[in-house]
Amino acid sequence: MITPVRWADDALVLLDQTRLPVEEVERRYARWEDVADAIRTLVVRGAPAIGVAAAYGVALAARASRATTFDGLLADLETAGKGLAATRPTAVNLFWALERVQRVARAARALPLPEVRARLLAEAHAIRAEDIAANRAMGAHGAALVPPAARILTHCNAGALATAGYGTALGVVRAAHAAGRVALVWVDETRPVMQGSRLTAWECVREGIPHRLIADAAAASVMARGQVDLVVTGADRIAANGDTANKIGTYSLAVLARHHDVPFYVAAPCSTIDPALPSGAAIPIEERDPAEVRRVGAAPTAPAESPVYNPAFDVTPAALITAIVTERGVFRPPYRF
Ligand code: MRU
Repeated sequence: MITPVRWADDALVLLDQTRLPVEEVERRYARWEDVADAIRTLVVRGAPAIGVAAAYGVALAARASRATTFDGLLADLETAGKGLAATRPTAVNLFWALERVQRVARAARALPLPEVRARLLAEAHAIRAEDIAANRAMGAHGAALVPPAARILTHCNAGALATAGYGTALGVVRAAHAAGRVALVWVDETRPVMQGSRLTAWECVREGIPHRLIADAAAASVMARGQVDLVVTGADRIAANGDTANKIGTYSLAVLARHHDVPFYVAAPCSTIDPALPSGAAIPIEERDPAEVRRVGAAPTAPAESPVYNPAFDVTPAALITAIVTERGVFRPPYRF
């Protein structure tokens, strides 16, 4: 099993996703500040995975705190929580996980400090374990939507690497593949950071899932040729009405899928749903370093002085989504989560 986030020997261990597919290196984190850095620089990425990593970040802050009173410890945890929350704005799983561990801390006022620290670590373990269980449940619900000999198109990486394990969109693919229903997975390269070619293709190779890599611009053409039976992607934040933020390029795929009469599914755990937001218009969209667009890997592909717009996510309107697969089952419009 691919394990992107784990706890070992009093530290958080992350599989460095910036190095894939070239090399598999794990890095050890004992300070919350370094975990925040790992989230910011995409060592760990994908909505559920950054939530899990942030929860462990707070547990690390509790271990490192020199506070001798509960209020002192809580103040240190709040500082860590703010620092971890400031890393990436779009995926709501980050804020959901931080709120969950902070709630555990606040409820532990009457306990000795070592017990508070132990409870925070236990909560991070629970968030991780629940994510894997949710993905497996999602896989089972989603696989039922996949016809025999399916050709499935996916975007970015919503696989084991983007979660605590197994994956959301790729979890659906995994479950359908195990049931013998997958003929081919079309893997979008996913410019500019290449999560499709670097990470999803790597997972498919590892698992023996038949796949074919395409440049993002080829998606329309494979759909027009009738070579895609369904699209499935992950999500970073789902508003109450079903509008869904996911990796930049997802919206174009949904438009294409509608034009070609191909079902478009989103797979995400309930921790990705943000019921406080009525629609996708209020989802904050991260803008990343212009350098990501001016190069492929380390190689420059544009003049250094060219201005760039680099939104990391877009919002797919609920009206273009056929169904949303969660661990609680398959939701169809109008969405009532
Ligand atoms: O910028 P990234 O790599 O963190 O973006 C990831 C995505 O957009 C995924 O599709 C999403 O987080 C779902 S992961 C299960």
